[in-house]
Amino acid sequence: MTSFKIAKFQIEGGKALDGEVQISGAKNAALPILLCSILTSEKVVLKNVPDLADVKTCIQLLEDLGKKCLYEPQNGQITLEGAVTSFVASYELVKTMRASIMALGPLVAYTGKAEVSLPGGCAIGARPVDLHIKGLKEMGAQIRLEDGYIKATAVGLGRLHGGHIIMDKVSVTGTENLMMAATLAEGETVIENAALEPEVIDLASCLNKMGAKIEGAGTSRVVINGVEKLNGCTHAIVADRIETGTYLIAGIATHGIVTCHNTMPSTLDALLQKLRDANALITVDGTSITADMRNRQIHPVDVVTAPHPGFPTDMQAQITVLNALASGVSSVTETIFENRFMHIAELNRMGAHLEIRGNTVICEGVASLKGAQVMSSDLRASASLVIAGLAAEGITIVDRIYHMDRGYEHIESKIRMLGGDIKRIY
Ligand code: EPZ
Repeated sequence: MTSFKIAKFQIEGGKALDGEVQISGAKNAALPILLCSILTSEKVVLKNVPDLADVKTCIQLLEDLGKKCLYEPQNGQITLEGAVTSFVASYELVKTMRASIMALGPLVAYTGKAEVSLPGGCAIGARPVDLHIKGLKEMGAQIRLEDGYIKATAVGLGRLHGGHIIMDKVSVTGTENLMMAATLAEGETVIENAALEPEVIDLASCLNKMGAKIEGAGTSRVVINGVEKLNGCTHAIVADRIETGTYLIAGIATHGIVTCHNTMPSTLDALLQKLRDANALITVDGTSITADMRNRQIHPVDVVTAPHPGFPTDMQAQITVLNALASGVSSVTETIFENRFMHIAELNRMGAHLEIRGNTVICEGVASLKGAQVMSSDLRASASLVIAGLAAEGITIVDRIYHMDRGYEHIESKIRMLGGDIKRIY
């Protein structure tokens, strides 16, 4: 019986990272932008697409829906064309990638109906999609929850109509799902309390290239005037701000110097401010950012996560590693997800002094961490364990790194480019 081997990372820590890394396209922009190709049968060419497990899953979903996809990971390009021939996004795919929920809006807008499996929760929280459903109802969709599926139909002429949607909470994929649906709805849709994330702006930019009429993306009020049809386009995915922040923090935690190229410094203001507060020397030069922590002590920084432009929840686990090694006491408060502290127990196994109190972690800095066997639980937690392993003395084994493969392109080679000692073992 073939034993299914789960990959691990073996990391020899204690070496200061020193080098330059090319930042890839953003996972959280690539996924909605891939799915917006459902809204047209014409050719959509996407560039700077990161070579990630989630991207491959998304392509699988699009092919299941009938799209023709030509994926060239070696040059980060995907060509999509043809009309969808199905409106069902199956549980098998949705359970592995929650972002599949963003097929719902485009499918019901383009075909008049959609059956998308309810995404389960995940390690970091229940991850409800009630705001996606509420918004589609306000655009005239009839929605039933049946057999674990969301079954949506655009009643009447089989076309959604504009609506005035007030989001009860700021939701990134909720905003994206509804913005996509509204591009083909009849009339004007207004989304109030919309998410401001750069990935929302990138999606709107791609949709407008396809002939959509979207104004206000990146502000809390997005106005979409529906059109009859969308055309093809060519679009390059925006740089990944979370990948950028992850490598900058890896450089700081190891008291090295790391430069990230092809990134978007303007999308990282809150993070860069905190890294400067942590006593890192941060310099920005066009699309490059350098973090220099050579011979510098890590200062403790208090962090509270918030929707963009606040401190990103996707950087919470990573900056906690800095606080674990800082010269003093600090706090990290998670306000977006209810269970995003799975990395804490693992970091404590490496000698950190971190204590969870409700949705806050109290961090008492220690002089160094010790290598240990640790377990990944979700994408960003796994990133924090790799950073801790690079900073720790001795060997760290990070298990279940399939979590990290979902969101970080060519991790080992990028870390080795920076001088880190990491290898994938089974
Ligand atoms: C997106 O998730 C990102 N994923 C997440 O990145 C990111 O952490 C999150 O936004 C917050 O920035 C993608 O873009 C693919 P939300 P999303 O809807 O859209 C509640 C990563 O590591 N909510 O903005 O699912 C929800 O429970 C991933 O790359 C509802 O109550 O997050 C949460 O508390 C992890 N009802 C808050 O809103 C809804 O219908 C924000 O969630 C939707 C959300």
